[in-house]
Amino acid sequence: MSIVNENFLRLEGRYLFQEIAKRVRAHTQSSPQARIIRMGIGDVTCPLVPCVISAMHRAVDDLSHADTFRGYGPERGYLWLREAIAQQDYASRGVVVSPDEIYVSDGAKSDTGNITDLFSPTAVVGIPDPVYPVYVDTNVMSGRTVIGLPSDEANDFVPLPPDDRRLDIAYLCYPNNPTGAVITREALTRWVDYALRTGTIILYDSAYEAFIRDAALPHSIFEIEGARHCAIEFRSFSKTAGFTGVRCAYTVIPHELHVTASNGASVRLASLWERRQGCKFNGASYVSQRAAEAVCTPEGRAAVQAQTDHYLSTARMIRERLQQMGLRPCGGLHSPYIWAHTPEGMDSWTFFDLMLHEAGVVVTPGEGFGACGRGRFRLSAFADADDAREAMDCMERVIKN
Ligand code: MLT
Repeated sequence: MSIVNENFLRLEGRYLFQEIAKRVRAHTQSSPQARIIRMGIGDVTCPLVPCVISAMHRAVDDLSHADTFRGYGPERGYLWLREAIAQQDYASRGVVVSPDEIYVSDGAKSDTGNITDLFSPTAVVGIPDPVYPVYVDTNVMSGRTVIGLPSDEANDFVPLPPDDRRLDIAYLCYPNNPTGAVITREALTRWVDYALRTGTIILYDSAYEAFIRDAALPHSIFEIEGARHCAIEFRSFSKTAGFTGVRCAYTVIPHELHVTASNGASVRLASLWERRQGCKFNGASYVSQRAAEAVCTPEGRAAVQAQTDHYLSTARMIRERLQQMGLRPCGGLHSPYIWAHTPEGMDSWTFFDLMLHEAGVVVTPGEGFGACGRGRFRLSAFADADDAREAMDCMERVIKN
């Protein structure tokens, strides 16, 4: 009898970005002189903004004196950070989220994966395709069957709620990773109405909301009426403020969000999350939380917006260049990601290898995000702007030959 969780055996060999890193490593080992421009994983390149650095220095000083030293922090995160988030990220946009509905963590990747602990292994899960692979992989690890919701140019990369079957859980991510697509208020309202009608819980990943530049687009699912009864939202400082190395994020679970247990009891989802986090998690570090608090100040907001503006100008340049190459790009307007077709429908891993070996550019193969990503690839605009321009020249040279 096996003692391993055999659900892991149903996964692809490696997590997408591990597979990419392995191929890049093999290439740099065999060609140590080769220049490589990394536009695969969405990892930031701009340094932390000055007010964040100052806050971190002050936090380290706090830890060096007995009277200001901190050990374990509150499980949900320090109240001063949760209050700053509730004010800056929600109240300032007219959305009511209370600090005690906010759970600070070390990343949206962990939260979107860990949240699966709250649901039954038999829950029916709807996940758009293509998608951030964490949603699929973590559900497969828990033994759930995932229903793919195809999204492409025909539906503007926003799948409609299925009318032929009920979902217990549905994942949505906008601005979208990997396609860079956005969701309109009308489309998000359709999903919320569907969830309220069918009892579906929407797991809404808005880690990229800081890249939205169109005032008509929703930043939060809680801007939509009724969402407090059917949705959990995930946010992160990683891409917003350059915290991929610092680590700080948060999840919002409204008080109203309840599900019905098999004995008919009404269960508050937040209480399950509190139980789970209390048992398996000890919080984000004090220094990271002070850094995040600095992002929520007017000075911090302005500084990180200048950074996202910078990444968006690189994204626009990439999009234009791919358009000129005839690769039919989308995204990149309210997102750091640009999604495009491979030339002549080339298999996306073949295109990945071609770009790595011949152009010296790391792209992300679309197929790594799901079957609907076949013949597509993703570029990240988090690269240095000059490097990104050079990458476009290298890709164009190879594609034209
Ligand atoms: C990505 O490239 O899709 C992201 O960087 C992955 C992540 O945020 O974990």
